[in-house]
Amino acid sequence: MLYNLSMTDSGDRLINPSPRSEDQSELSLRPQMLAELIGQEKIKENLRILIEAARHRGEPLDHVLFYGPPGLGKTTLAHILANEMGVNIKVTAGPAIERQGDLAAILSNLREGDVLFIDEIHRLGRAVEEVLYPAMEDFALDIVIGKGPAARSVRLKLPRFSVIGATTRLALVTAPLRARFGAVYRLHFYSQEAMEEIVVRAAERLVVTTDPDGVREIAIRARGTPRVALRLLRRVRDFAQVRAGGMITATVADEALDLLDVDSLGLDEFDRRVLRTIIEKYNCGPVGLNTIAASMHEEQDTIQDVVEPYLLQLGFLERTSQGRMATRLACEHLGLPYPDNQPPKLF
Ligand SMILES: Nc1ncnc2c1ncn2[C@@H]1O[C@H](COP(=O)(O)OP(=O)(O)O)[C@@H](O)[C@H]1O
Ligand SMILES: [Mg+2]
Repeated sequence: MLYNLSMTDSGDRLINPSPRSEDQSELSLRPQMLAELIGQEKIKENLRILIEAARHRGEPLDHVLFYGPPGLGKTTLAHILANEMGVNIKVTAGPAIERQGDLAAILSNLREGDVLFIDEIHRLGRAVEEVLYPAMEDFALDIVIGKGPAARSVRLKLPRFSVIGATTRLALVTAPLRARFGAVYRLHFYSQEAMEEIVVRAAERLVVTTDPDGVREIAIRARGTPRVALRLLRRVRDFAQVRAGGMITATVADEALDLLDVDSLGLDEFDRRVLRTIIEKYNCGPVGLNTIAASMHEEQDTIQDVVEPYLLQLGFLERTSQGRMATRLACEHLGLPYPDNQPPKLF
């Protein structure tokens, strides 16, 4: 009997790096301090300096913005920074702050040194952003009292605090907001080595036995993304416990992941559909992302945030001024012919 446990619906994909409810158990797996965070060496080194400098001056941390694809550790880093500074963290998200008053209420409840973490900061409304500017720059809250000609603006002093922002789309963060961050860091996909270490540590905490080949197999298929690695590990563990005596070997990982329709490079049916659309319907492109999304009946945002970064990283996709193009490598991976009428590439 063959079960296909994977879902083609983009929201429910096993390897969708966006958080979902079962990831709550991630909390216990989440590194608490910088030293426990695997990989991202350059960012860690920069953050150590930032923390040390702030401590030395007896000031709150500079405002920090993290950007990069989902599942790479932006939220984790925000919590780590608050832990390292020994301060409270207040967590919110761009779409959750609807009106200026919502933000004013959050800001006026902060204490000296606190971290305000704003996830999906690119989704803050313009009006709300305008309240944030003086708050970040001068630790001040400008409130308008009264209406019409009698209205006047009053400036309230706020405690000194730090904003940590996270976004999957740096390009959508407005220039004035971006300019108010003292430090901006891009998170990259993790190396194979770092991914293996993440899987090993998580396996220890989940109390499941693995061998190095089993670990390697999961790491290879986790698309350089810790959240995906943790999710694959849990599914493989289930499979190992039910079908294979509990031990995760390469064969067990292989079988489990094949059953889940995650291929040798970590692509699932949704990724392959995106590629096949570009290759088969549009002769490898170039084709606009909106056209791809429309012909797949999928959301452009999902493709752009979740599918595209990894395909670019693999060299399966190229972004040109005329649109997306699938590469020869992509065709080979899917076992499809590369169209010979593609114009020669100009560099
Ligand atoms: N460098 C890392 N080392 C170990 N685990 C990590 C690392 N980065 C992320 N994780 C794990 O992956 C999960 C997803 O990370 P998260 O910070 O929520 O990603 P993001 O906010 O960028 O979407 C976390 O729960 C954490 O357990
Ligand atoms: Mg996050």
